Amino acid sequence: MADESPLIRSLRAAVAAAPGDVPLRLHFAELLLAEGRSDEAVAEAAAALQHAPGDAGARALMVRAMGVPPVPPAPDPAPAPAPEPPAPARPDAPRPPSFDWAAAEEQVSDLVGPRFLEDPQAEGGDGLTGDAAAWDVDAPGAVRLADVGGMTDVKERLEAAFLAPMRNPELRRLYGKSLRGGLLLYGPPGCGKTFIARAVAGELGANFLTVSLSDVLDMWIGASEKNVHDIFETARRQAPCVVFLDELDALGGKRSRTQNNGLRNVVNQLLTELDGIASGAGNEGVFVLAATNVPWDVDIALRRPGRLDRTLLVLPPDAPAREAILRYHLRERPIEAVDLGKLVKATEDFSGADLAHLCETAAESALLDSARTGSVRLITTKDLLGAAKQIRPSTEPWFAAARNVAMFANEGGLYDDLLAYLKRKRKL
Ligand SMILES: Nc1ncnc2c1ncn2[C@@H]1O[C@H](COP(=O)(O)OP(=O)(O)OP(=O)(O)O)[C@@H](O)[C@H]1O
Ligand SMILES: [Mg+2]
Repeated sequence: MADESPLIRSLRAAVAAAPGDVPLRLHFAELLLAEGRSDEAVAEAAAALQHAPGDAGARALMVRAMGVPPVPPAPDPAPAPAPEPPAPARPDAPRPPSFDWAAAEEQVSDLVGPRFLEDPQAEGGDGLTGDAAAWDVDAPGAVRLADVGGMTDVKERLEAAFLAPMRNPELRRLYGKSLRGGLLLYGPPGCGKTFIARAVAGELGANFLTVSLSDVLDMWIGASEKNVHDIFETARRQAPCVVFLDELDALGGKRSRTQNNGLRNVVNQLLTELDGIASGAGNEGVFVLAATNVPWDVDIALRRPGRLDRTLLVLPPDAPAREAILRYHLRERPIEAVDLGKLVKATEDFSGADLAHLCETAAESALLDSARTGSVRLITTKDLLGAAKQIRPSTEPWFAAARNVAMFANEGGLYDDLLAYLKRKRKL
């Protein structure tokens, strides 16, 4: 910030250098508060509480910074109004005078950062099509496999099936074309396919070009094929580059064979590009990853040898992964002595997205409570466990569908991994 005082600036630097120094952080927060920057003071107090849960000084400061008036003496002699039940306050509804809902909501939402920490790439590109299509390429990212919590099986398989051969040109030469195909990630929604693809790009030190296939499809005849070609041209220019084809099922085999001839052409163009990569010429350093929730809808031609010939099942996060995900989503929220072990046990089958939603729900209930009582309180294990009870794992319907496919359409052992998992979990 350009206009801040030198003292604030140097304290900010000191705090950044010693994030665990609670007294220093509180001192900094006091100064911010004195300058009227209460939102930042709240955030600092919350950070202090993460390091020293329950610290009385930090709590007091947070309450002051949030501007909650110390329960005002009633102006009239009428008995103190019983706290209103929290009819989820509409923005235009009259507010009880003792608590400024809007301000608190604003402050707390500043405090907890973005309400949902969604991967912007997961939303799928920019909808750019046609001539102006400039496919966004991200520089080698900060996400590495080490950031993916748990999921040891997935990591080992990625290493063996993809990373080792990619890193090792000798090995590639030895095995020739057979290692050049891409990797198809599949599994229930919200379980980390996109996240893992990004981590793979990070491991390879490669650029990352993510394409949601519904963005490729253009109403103009021929434009969709051109989009596919442009994407791979961009990747070649930016090599080393991982091309990540999200929602591969948008080119569903069934659909492309029936009503829509246009789709057939897009599939064909994609096949040409994939074969080009398999042949190597001019495609050094271009890697293809794809993802889908419904692999049984993916055109089978795309899965032939040399194309997307290896698959990787990405299951709901295991216990260590759930812990990592919960830590991540709670990292900037005002929590108090949360028992992660209990929470991890209560969230079997939850997807990464479900866990994000759970943290959000718990934060909401603590916020509502604070509003109701007029005194700020932190998010507790109880809030989180309560939220876990309310949320049904969104992976259930997926497993119901997948079960049938694994049992009755497992041609060529395509879904052996899935079958093994279902057996292990007694879901068959
Ligand atoms: N093992 C993990 N470690 C840390 N975070 C994870 C892990 N798995 C998932 N996540 C988190 O869960 C969120 C959802 O994952 P992601 O968007 O990658 O799922 P997806 O399988 O691509 O979902 P969709 O099918 O909806 O596209 C990610 O933003 C990420 O933060
Ligand atoms: Mg995704």
